[in-house]
Amino acid sequence: MGKKLKEFYDLSINNPDQFWNDAAQDLYWETPYKQVLDYSQPPFAKWFIGGKTNICFNAIDRHLKMRGDQAALIFVSTEKNQEITYSYNQLFHEVNTMASIMKSLGVKKGDRVVIYMPMIPEAIFAIYACTRIGAIHSVVFGGFAAHSLASRIDDAKPSLMVTADAGLRGGKVVSYKPLVDEACIKAHFPPEKILIVNRGLDPNMSIQEGRDVDYSVQKEKHKNAQVNCEWLDSSHPSYILYTSGTTGKPKGVQRDTGGYLVAMNTSIKYIYCGKPGETFFTTSDIGWVVGHSYIVYAPLIAGMTTIVYEGLPIRPDPGIWWDLVKKYNVTVMFSSPTAIRVLKKQDPSYLDPNKTQSLRYLFLAGEPLDEPTAHWISDSLKIPVVDNYWQTETGWPILSAMLGVEDTPRKFGSPSFPVYGYNVQLINEITGEKAKDNEKGLLAIVPPLPPGCLSTIWGDDERFVKTYFSTFTDKYIYSTFDWGIRDSDGYYFILGRTDDVINVAGHRLGTREIEEAISNHQQIAEVAVVGVSDNLKGQVPYAFVVSKNNAHLMDQQTQLNLEKEIFQIVDQSLGAIARPSRVLFVSILPKTRSGKLLRRSIQALAEGREPGDLTTLDDPTALESIKEALMQSR
Ligand code: PRX
Repeated sequence: MGKKLKEFYDLSINNPDQFWNDAAQDLYWETPYKQVLDYSQPPFAKWFIGGKTNICFNAIDRHLKMRGDQAALIFVSTEKNQEITYSYNQLFHEVNTMASIMKSLGVKKGDRVVIYMPMIPEAIFAIYACTRIGAIHSVVFGGFAAHSLASRIDDAKPSLMVTADAGLRGGKVVSYKPLVDEACIKAHFPPEKILIVNRGLDPNMSIQEGRDVDYSVQKEKHKNAQVNCEWLDSSHPSYILYTSGTTGKPKGVQRDTGGYLVAMNTSIKYIYCGKPGETFFTTSDIGWVVGHSYIVYAPLIAGMTTIVYEGLPIRPDPGIWWDLVKKYNVTVMFSSPTAIRVLKKQDPSYLDPNKTQSLRYLFLAGEPLDEPTAHWISDSLKIPVVDNYWQTETGWPILSAMLGVEDTPRKFGSPSFPVYGYNVQLINEITGEKAKDNEKGLLAIVPPLPPGCLSTIWGDDERFVKTYFSTFTDKYIYSTFDWGIRDSDGYYFILGRTDDVINVAGHRLGTREIEEAISNHQQIAEVAVVGVSDNLKGQVPYAFVVSKNNAHLMDQQTQLNLEKEIFQIVDQSLGAIARPSRVLFVSILPKTRSGKLLRRSIQALAEGREPGDLTTLDDPTALESIKEALMQSR
């Protein structure tokens, strides 16, 4: 860490009140806060106590005077061949209309609104309409299926859902409404109203009278409405975003208002190096945390222009992203290692240096950035490529270079240093001592967590404490569930998860959730899902299944049929992104004598490594069964 960066970082840790008080000055507070941090109930941290503000106001209204005509949101759909630019004035207008519609449908401050939408501008209008009126949004990734949607509905108990008739992927229409209808039947607490943006993609969309409301009709009615911002307590929840963990039940990460606002603004300044008036292009989806923070919120809070892209990175051709960089003068781009690996496989001439001259930085996050990919993209773009490490829980980087503070050299394979505000420690999991340089440890954060991180798990404070702060019995330490190592120059490296979470193309999935879905098949006795390394996607799920009718499975055709049914059941309950890349049939799964699945050993075998410590293995033939299945499927 350079000298300047070290001073900056040290201040944030040693004097968080001063550090975050300075940071909060850039934003508008309707009522100034009286206290920066309240940590009287560890491990719960509250930021900017007594302050009242509004994220929508800070991201849109605050800029109207200076930037009313500046582009705020550029929507590009290569699926629909559409490009629409909304100025800050126009975005203000759209968000007010949406907020007025929501109010007319009975949405009040504190109510939850589930947003299940493709990457279209109305999704952003809906998100900001919620923050404007103090409703709490829960965006559910459009790739999730009915079961996942239903469980998120039941956890949040929304009064409204906003959706669309369909999305588009690779030229194919993906209907949303049938999944919404199915989820509402499955759920115990379905929303009273469903607002539908009808894109005219699904002519067969069914409408439930009294519940379903057409957006375009409402838009006409509310088109000149103005809705005042609700001034919200700094700790008022702004949103819930579900993420996977060790259990089959996703956790609702709850974010506050004031802390998140300040964290987003500072991250653009110090980490992402964006300037007001410039264009920020994040290639994620609004259903994930990167989309929340760096498509929807941070660029607008910072007075930048954000790009919302519906489409694939290689359609109409693999130069599309660079074309957008040129056309819209993008200065900062944020993507994932998987996306870059996909582009690396294409004809290199698509990455034409003439198209990328405006670009100053590329940020990559969400999964490990391998060296060949990092080299290729840095050599091609000839700009800093910054690997940053964080989680849905934190909402913004835990480890990163901070080029807005000091231009420190980057090392390939390392997301550099702890970010200001995060008291990062590598801890030996057994002794609880700090790990030395070059010694593997659990990557942990000494609380209080900085502003912007999760304030709790929605509706379950106990689970928040139990999940994240219970690794050590004598002290509260936040566990990231990642292994890490720090070299003697202070650079950190991430070595993979300590739990059953896997990372497929930068998407975080719980193996338990996939196992639960597969177990619902009546012919399956037992199943183990593990993440196996993959050249393109980082990891892919493999399912090892024990059928109730083993003998029956000797026949290959029956195996193929069963595999197909397993794919279907995963698609239907979780969505195609969770579909195992392979299903392998075994007679028994390796377990300890106490019945715990030896996932690490299964994973090691699938990756061609030694299975590790097997002293607790109950039945040695189980490993043979795994090896055999792997051999046969090669
Ligand atoms: O295992 C780490 C991995 O992704 C997890 C968090 O995923 P998610 O909640 O989807 O949030 C993604 C936000 C960018 C982490 O626990 N991960 C994330 N970034 C990196 C990473 N692994 C290695 N290097 C990274 N830069």
